[in-house]
Amino acid sequence: MRCGVTRQLPLDAKSLLAPYFDSVELYEKGRPLTQEELSHAISDKEVFICQLTEPITQNILEHANRLRFLATFSTGVDHLDLKALKQRGIKVSHTPGVLTEATANLAWALILSCSRKLMPAQRYLQDGKFNGFLPSLFLGLALEQSTLGIVGMGKIGQAVAHRARAFGMKVIYFTRSSVEGVEGVSVSFEELLEKSDVISIHCPLTPHTKHLFNSKALSLMKSDAVLINTARGPIVNEEGLVEHLKRNPNCFVGLDVFENEPKVAPGLLELPNALCVPHIGSASRWAREQMARICIEDAMRFARGEKLQYEYSL
Ligand code: DGY
Repeated sequence: MRCGVTRQLPLDAKSLLAPYFDSVELYEKGRPLTQEELSHAISDKEVFICQLTEPITQNILEHANRLRFLATFSTGVDHLDLKALKQRGIKVSHTPGVLTEATANLAWALILSCSRKLMPAQRYLQDGKFNGFLPSLFLGLALEQSTLGIVGMGKIGQAVAHRARAFGMKVIYFTRSSVEGVEGVSVSFEELLEKSDVISIHCPLTPHTKHLFNSKALSLMKSDAVLINTARGPIVNEEGLVEHLKRNPNCFVGLDVFENEPKVAPGLLELPNALCVPHIGSASRWAREQMARICIEDAMRFARGEKLQYEYSL
């Protein structure tokens, strides 16, 4: 059986997998594989480990006649054509659970930075404008008087809600899946937009959630709301967001993900009310090592004919 790994993982996948396969090929190029490279790499593999930057489409799968098992180094599966994978009887595993706390922590880093306007405050100092303490300089949100609205109440949404208790925030949430025993009060999407001082997005990207935050939704938010996205970029219409931020300088956004990664909408990075980081939600050393371990161990299990531990049910 042959195995392919598209990027160097935080654990040495090649050496760890070598005893279980006839060959293991690592395609590290310092960038995601192009469609052509991906088609070629996958074409003679039974087992393949990919990244969220490598869409496994119907077109790619047409080259993957031997493929039996695909592991993605991610929790999100929106880059995979799940229907086509199912039709071909290819098993899939992903990495849920291990990045919950890391992502919730990054969401909170963005919430705190945006709600206290740390980006323009640092710029003000760097620009030599600081002449001493001022009573009304960079006034931000009092979190303990504020409402946090969470969109998507899966594990990460719940971990973000849990942390809100320490800051004395009221929590409301909007979610499509049924959840029990979670922090906060369930509300409609419109109510969440209108009532929240801080909104944090934690739903998966699906046809239902693509552009959930369009210009209309953005206009329903409070004009000084904080919006955080550590989920998937296309959930927010980025062009509409840039316009909204220009019109509402007191609205702040914290973004870890972008609509057309790695591209960022023109103008967004220059805005003083946008804090943008490059998809690092899960980037604690521990979380990334666990993600690698899961991919590697499920590939080993597959090679040994054992039950997968993190199979995504197609
Ligand atoms: C995921 O796993 O889906 C994150 O976006 C990256 O870790």
